[in-house]
Amino acid sequence: MTSDTGLPWETMPRWSGLDARAGRLRKRLASALLADGAVRDPRWLDAFRTVPRHVFLRRFLLQRPDGLWEAADSSRPDWLELVYDDQVRVTQLDGDPESWERARAHGGVPGEATCSSSMPAIMAIMLEALRVRDGHDVLEIGTGTGYNAALLGHVLGDEHVTTVDVDRSIAALAGENLAAAGHAPTVVTGDGLLGVPGRAPFDRVLGTCAVTRVPLPWLEQTTPGGLVVTTLNRLIGAGLVRITAGDGPCGEGRVLREDGRFMPLRAHARHWTAAALEHAGTAEAVSRRETDLPVNAVLAASHPFEFFAGLVLADVAGCRVERGGARFAHEDGSWVRHTTRDGTSRVEQGGPRALWDLAEAAHEHWLALGSPRRDRFGVTVGPDGQRFWLDAPTSEHSWPL
Ligand SMILES: C[S@@+](CC[C@H](N)C(=O)[O-])C[C@H]1O[C@@H](n2cnc3c(N)ncnc32)[C@H](O)[C@@H]1O
Repeated sequence: MTSDTGLPWETMPRWSGLDARAGRLRKRLASALLADGAVRDPRWLDAFRTVPRHVFLRRFLLQRPDGLWEAADSSRPDWLELVYDDQVRVTQLDGDPESWERARAHGGVPGEATCSSSMPAIMAIMLEALRVRDGHDVLEIGTGTGYNAALLGHVLGDEHVTTVDVDRSIAALAGENLAAAGHAPTVVTGDGLLGVPGRAPFDRVLGTCAVTRVPLPWLEQTTPGGLVVTTLNRLIGAGLVRITAGDGPCGEGRVLREDGRFMPLRAHARHWTAAALEHAGTAEAVSRRETDLPVNAVLAASHPFEFFAGLVLADVAGCRVERGGARFAHEDGSWVRHTTRDGTSRVEQGGPRALWDLAEAAHEHWLALGSPRRDRFGVTVGPDGQRFWLDAPTSEHSWPL
């Protein structure tokens, strides 16, 4: 017997033998989320303790050290442990609904992840950031496996949850997963960039795929005073933002202290990076010199300068960390090679703009501003444009989004 999506139900394990083990692992995950501070609200704690992630991850793909993806399912003895680790689990590559079958047939396949169940800690942070109250109607962008929609449904009631995915096969499988877990939110197939006008207005909109700019329909479809929470699709300085909707397609909000990085909304994905990085690895440099700025200050999400670096290097979209250094590339053809040997760092640059010079100037500016952390920045969004600012919307320091 097969389901509507063609996924044979025979591959579903016998729940009775698994339930106790899954329940223990689920409680352990929920306790870890609580201990780390990702979960604070008892309602979300209860959701993570109750909603069975394994129903949403019957099949997923694991990346091997050689970069290829291999198929995983309940036939693995460690399947439940993998499901209840606080890890992102990829379920689709390159938009191909057959990617799992391909990986199973070939033993390992290359590809870019296009669907996943996100890391539970980041899901928890975003759910907390939504500040939901009983009776709120929520729109989730990016249904994926359906797991997050089930968490929302557990807390708010399925009738208050609408979720949209651009990929028909993903939405269909999510609908089956949700039904198997006892949930029935409204699952829509469509472009989440447009929101879901037929179900608006919403009190909350949650973007679970990263956007380059905040789609105005999300704000337009949110009740004034309601909240939009999403991650920004930036390689350097990605951030989690919470925006309070104004009257119409506009809003104002803050960058949150917690970081969150998600796969991009399909229209906002960049496909030129591999070639640009290859070029950055071999091209003749326009300039070559020593530098005092460590590469991790610009590229490591944990570094306090990284968010600010992203304000200046917003469209850097490809980066490769390698032994003794890193390289990154901008869509305008500019690139940087940074290497450190015997305690000395050297930088080579090429293309139309000297990106490392910009990064160093930004670092000086950041120090002069008192080294502000990401949560001192805010964001204003409207039909006239989108911009970040420091401390207040009226600040003289502002950067385009
Ligand atoms: C990280 S996954 C979402 C995880 C999901 N919330 C869960 O709980 O499993 C990102 C999803 O966004 C979807 N997506 C990408 N572009 C989209 C778009 N333009 N509109 C709606 N969904 C989109 C992808 O198909 C993918 O399923």
